[in-house]
Amino acid sequence: MLIRLDKLLAHSGYGTRKEVKQLIRKGYVSVDNEIIYNDDYKVDTLKSEISFFNEEVKYEQYTYIMLNKPDGYVSATYDSEYPTVIDLVNEPIRNLFPIGRLDIDTRGLLILSNDGKLAHNLLSPKHHVEKEYYVRYEGNLKKDAVEVFEKGMILDDKLTKPAKLIIINESEAKVILTEGRFHQVKRMFSNIGGNVTYLKRIRFKDIKLDDSLKEGEYRYLNAEEINSLKEN
Ligand code: URA
Repeated sequence: MLIRLDKLLAHSGYGTRKEVKQLIRKGYVSVDNEIIYNDDYKVDTLKSEISFFNEEVKYEQYTYIMLNKPDGYVSATYDSEYPTVIDLVNEPIRNLFPIGRLDIDTRGLLILSNDGKLAHNLLSPKHHVEKEYYVRYEGNLKKDAVEVFEKGMILDDKLTKPAKLIIINESEAKVILTEGRFHQVKRMFSNIGGNVTYLKRIRFKDIKLDDSLKEGEYRYLNAEEINSLKEN
């Protein structure tokens, strides 16, 4: 497949499209041992040997994006009523979908990809992928709230897996879950006497939400982050 050099580098995690264009113009990128200064130069994803600062560039067949989801967007590829998280990606990427869901009013880290196999692995209950949330809440939490999270509680006739509750103060906490049940953080808080007023996912597996991303912004995952998602 032929693809623009700047697009390939941006998709492989070497920076934003603007950043990689600059790097190409400065002469940091070569194709088949020749320095290329042209960002719209077309490369063959199967044959071209591309290097960046003399290091081989591995072409990623799929796309992996970290999005800082704002309030008001649904975690789906289509919705008849509300804008979707895919609408926030202002470039055409085939078959992009969110890996897992955040409620419409939940913010923070959502991984978007078109790698169906990876999504399947990450979402499978077998894999116990950790998700960490920052929570603002109202109400007086039960004294044994931390133990209740650890031991599990019944939601929809089924015991929750051990979860970690870290109380920061009387209105803020962090939660680490290894499952993704419907409104899970909100319902677990409600069971310990709290009402969640703000919820933001800050980590998915080993990937932390990049502080430099404002709500609604996204960036491509870098090679290290992609590998960490693929590790079991
Ligand atoms: N728990 C919730 O209640 N909502 C989310 O969006 C994610 C976890």
